[in-house]
Amino acid sequence: MTTAHVFIAISLDGYIARSDGDIDWLLQRDDPTEDHGYNDFIADKDVIVMGRGSYEKVSSFDPWPYDRPVVVLSRQLAGTPVPEALQGKVRFTGASPRELMDSLAGEGVRRIYLDGGQVVQSFLREGLVEDMVITTAPVLIGSGRPLFGTLASDVDLVLVSSRSFPSGLVQSTYRVRQQ
Ligand SMILES: NC(=O)c1ccc[n+]([C@@H]2O[C@H](COP(=O)([O-])OP(=O)(O)OC[C@H]3O[C@@H](n4cnc5c(N)ncnc54)[C@H](OP(=O)(O)O)[C@@H]3O)[C@@H](O)[C@H]2O)c1
Repeated sequence: MTTAHVFIAISLDGYIARSDGDIDWLLQRDDPTEDHGYNDFIADKDVIVMGRGSYEKVSSFDPWPYDRPVVVLSRQLAGTPVPEALQGKVRFTGASPRELMDSLAGEGVRRIYLDGGQVVQSFLREGLVEDMVITTAPVLIGSGRPLFGTLASDVDLVLVSSRSFPSGLVQSTYRVRQQ
């Protein structure tokens, strides 16, 4: 069985990016002297799964920031060629969340890092998220791309741990209580 794990940062008012995708408000508050636990988090993840929105942002980063295989969920990109520089590192799929999890399980993938607001929302709606590490930045940005969205029914969470950093970031880890 493959499980999905979220590690993401939000503004206090719940956005992961401005409407145009900008994350300046987050990068400004990233104190490189603080260890926010990303390396520990990624250490036991086999594959990174992200939505097209997140891929469009990270594909502009140089160098490519991931040393794990990346699967991009996108109906638009599915069937199109991966840019040459990312071949062997990235694949595109138009699969549904459940189809993707089943096919990754078939490949022997045990744990995925799930990234992107809309994609996290879809996986939550399907009951496919195991836990979430959410780092809240002390800023209100007023509007943007939300981490969470509408649900058919409540999603119950168990607070596993919470900690704060001198920079003002507050990080909470939640386990999703499966219905
Ligand atoms: N603050 C943080 O820690 C953090 C983390 C990650 C990303 N970000 C930022 O957030 C922005 C991207 O997030 P986002 O919420 O806009 O997009 P996203 O979740 O990364 O991608 C959404 C896109 O994925 C595709 N998709 C395919 N299957 C899907 C499914 N089952 N459910 C939902 N989407 C599916 C759709 O594109 P198609 O039309 O191609 O199917 C959809 O438009 C970027 O600006 C990025 O920089 C911030």
